[in-house]
Amino acid sequence: MTRVLVLNGPNLGRLGTREPDVYGTLTLEDIRTRLVEDAAGRAEIELRQTDDEATLIGWLHEAVDTASPVVLNPAAFTHYSYALRDAVSIVTSAGLPLVEVHLSNPHAREEFRHTSVISGVATGVIAGLGVDSYRLALEAVLRRA
Ligand code: DQA
Repeated sequence: MTRVLVLNGPNLGRLGTREPDVYGTLTLEDIRTRLVEDAAGRAEIELRQTDDEATLIGWLHEAVDTASPVVLNPAAFTHYSYALRDAVSIVTSAGLPLVEVHLSNPHAREEFRHTSVISGVATGVIAGLGVDSYRLALEAVLRRA
């Protein structure tokens, strides 16, 4: 069965209590539960979170080595990490789907959030829909897996 890596960057481990007016009240565990339900019988969901850039890059290398589709919320790394961009490019240039997701709509927020260094090498981007950003991204990667 296809295994989808759902990778989350810095501060997303605080979801539930982190700025609930912006990010909602669901925890990452709640998001995992919904994705597992959605994927039942179709894919395995492996949801991970790290605050560490190197760890996140290592997981993207793992995605290539295991031919796993990826749903990625790069969090603040979105806006400045060229190292993460290069790792995403390794995934997508290997022919694996990778959808960038955001709970909030970065374009409706501070200026620095309007730039994503990731989007140009992602398969697609879904933002502003809360947990539905993840659920729609899961459908998109499964269609392309
Ligand atoms: C985020 C948006 C980013 O700008 C921010 O740094 C995050 C979360 C989102 O899911 O809306 O940490 O990626």
